[in-house]
Amino acid sequence: MSLLTVNNLTVKAGAKALVSDLSFTLDKGERLGLIGESGSGKSLTSLAVTGLLARQLQAEGVVTLKGTPIIGAKDRDLNALRGTAVAIVFQEPLTALDPLMRVGQQISEVVNRRAKRDGDRVTRGEMDAEVAALMDEVNLPASLASKYPHEMSGGQRQRIAIAMALACKPDLLIADEPTTALDVTTQAEIMSLIKRLVAERNMALLFISHDLPVVANTVDRVVVMRHGVAVEAGAVGEVFRSPQHDYTKSLLAAAKAFDNAIGGQA
Ligand SMILES: Nc1ncnc2c1ncn2[C@@H]1O[C@H](COP(=O)(O)OP(=O)(O)OP(=O)(O)O)[C@@H](O)[C@H]1O
Ligand SMILES: [Mg+2]
Repeated sequence: MSLLTVNNLTVKAGAKALVSDLSFTLDKGERLGLIGESGSGKSLTSLAVTGLLARQLQAEGVVTLKGTPIIGAKDRDLNALRGTAVAIVFQEPLTALDPLMRVGQQISEVVNRRAKRDGDRVTRGEMDAEVAALMDEVNLPASLASKYPHEMSGGQRQRIAIAMALACKPDLLIADEPTTALDVTTQAEIMSLIKRLVAERNMALLFISHDLPVVANTVDRVVVMRHGVAVEAGAVGEVFRSPQHDYTKSLLAAAKAFDNAIGGQA
């Protein structure tokens, strides 16, 4: 059984379909990329598979995460899954962080929630040690635990958001343009961090990005979306080497033209 099964997912706002008839699966430890132009439905797909769609949107079809149906599920069941099966890292880390709470405290809240769920008792000392270990995993010194989000750089904040995602010990990590808000050097550092952690912890990864070279280096398979429809899917090497759909060809050509333009200036 796949970790995540998406079968004929349709997301509508009233009569308007924003995602149509989308199907894919993701196995344990597998890495899948979602690409496509702005507004093609990538983020809505990631929200639909975690049951986080806005109330005014309706989802149809069957989404199963770790054997639990997501569409139509009660919040209580979804909350249990969000702690265990899946965690999301968003584009802008500030959206995931509480501005009024020290970051170490924010990580320990997630650790606490997970401990409660697992029926573990965690002492104050164990908690501090776990927060320090999580910060170490994302290459941050434990001394930063006492900082507030606004006292950190964007890259450091994204590392904290990743540490919070890891604290849930998820089987599936969803990263929705996790580096778009960061400068190029920090982007590369965060991507190598995500790739290392996904491999070390054998997490599955649903990776959303506009950066096609990064996608090629990060995922095994890719789904190409346009206007809410999957126009092409397959092994990332094959799809990028010999795209079948005109839309995929144009996406790759645009990325290549950009690369050439940059290369031309160097
Ligand atoms: N809550 C909402 N209500 C109505 N329409 C929405 C809502 N959220 C998103 N949409 C619309 O659904 C479409 C898909 O949005 P989505 O955020 O999934 O795009 P995306 O592929 O993630 O784009 P980007 O690359 O810019 O992040 C867009 O046309 C968007 O305007
Ligand atoms: Mg998006």
